[in-house]
Amino acid sequence: MKKTEKKIRSVAVLTSGGDSPGMNAAIRAVVRAASYNYLKCYGIYRGFQGLIENEFEELGARSVRNIINRGGTFLKSARSHDFRSPEFRKVAYNNLKSRRIDALVVIGGDGSFTGAKIFSEEYDIAVIGIPGTIDNDINGTDFTLGYDTALNTVVDAIDKIRDTANSHDRLFLIEVMGRDAGDIALNSGIAAGAEEILIPEENLGMDRLVESLHKSRIAGKTSSIVVVAEGDQIGKNITELAENLERDLPQYECKVTVLGHIQRGGSPSCYDRVLASRMGVGAIDALLEGDTNVMIGVSHSKIVRVPFETAIDFKKTIDTDLIRVADIISS
Ligand code: F6P
Repeated sequence: MKKTEKKIRSVAVLTSGGDSPGMNAAIRAVVRAASYNYLKCYGIYRGFQGLIENEFEELGARSVRNIINRGGTFLKSARSHDFRSPEFRKVAYNNLKSRRIDALVVIGGDGSFTGAKIFSEEYDIAVIGIPGTIDNDINGTDFTLGYDTALNTVVDAIDKIRDTANSHDRLFLIEVMGRDAGDIALNSGIAAGAEEILIPEENLGMDRLVESLHKSRIAGKTSSIVVVAEGDQIGKNITELAENLERDLPQYECKVTVLGHIQRGGSPSCYDRVLASRMGVGAIDALLEGDTNVMIGVSHSKIVRVPFETAIDFKKTIDTDLIRVADIISS
């Protein structure tokens, strides 16, 4: 674990990449823990782009009242291409130093941690990451902030779609987020009783899908739910998949629902609020103990510090036993 010799006196926090429910709760915890430890704290608006464009606001314990239950991030988020260039990172560094800020807490995904790691290696700024993304695709932590809330949003939506699928004997293809990870699709599919779950981690092919749905029909199922991760490999896109299924299964009327960004919003679940609070306090603890270039994760219910290299350089694997469970209970 990389250590910094410098005593931390002032910290800034930003949110970066795709937003997720729980980010506000994490900001709140960072600010409250900084205040508790007599550290000056600043919020930076719009992620690394705001760091470059000098969008800072000093925050105190009262600045973050009434936000633990709010989705999104009041500091706003962005994806910054400018931060990829050394000249702009130098501007970012000068903006921090002009306020005598020693440390940065970055709430975001592995892309955000990559930028943070490069920055921390170039300048004497301690950096701690908090995994904020609904995808749950960051290695080294069992859960990322927003994942639990997104799962509950998706399950509620699928339950509603199942009502109308049953009423009209239809086959629904429901696309869920996850960029290139199947965690949301797999867990929400099991929870919502989907007949089929398509994830990027395993491409079982069109023929197997058609055969399985055909068997369901013969077994008496008059409607079916197929949860499709957006990164799924079958076909070019979900509309083409639906057309192919209607061609191969003429007895089914296929409909498509793309849940989209509804999965990114909403009031964070209790689990995400508590996880955010634990991670925010954990980030300040790590800084005060001299750690840098680590992500605060949760493993077997314990808060852990994960080197950025572990979080960034290794792809998180999907739970293959859960895939087995899905296969068994959907039969
Ligand atoms: O990484 C989180 C995520 O929601 C992915 O699941 C999704 O593919 C992507 O962000 C969407 O990005 P944007 O909000 O920029 O369209």
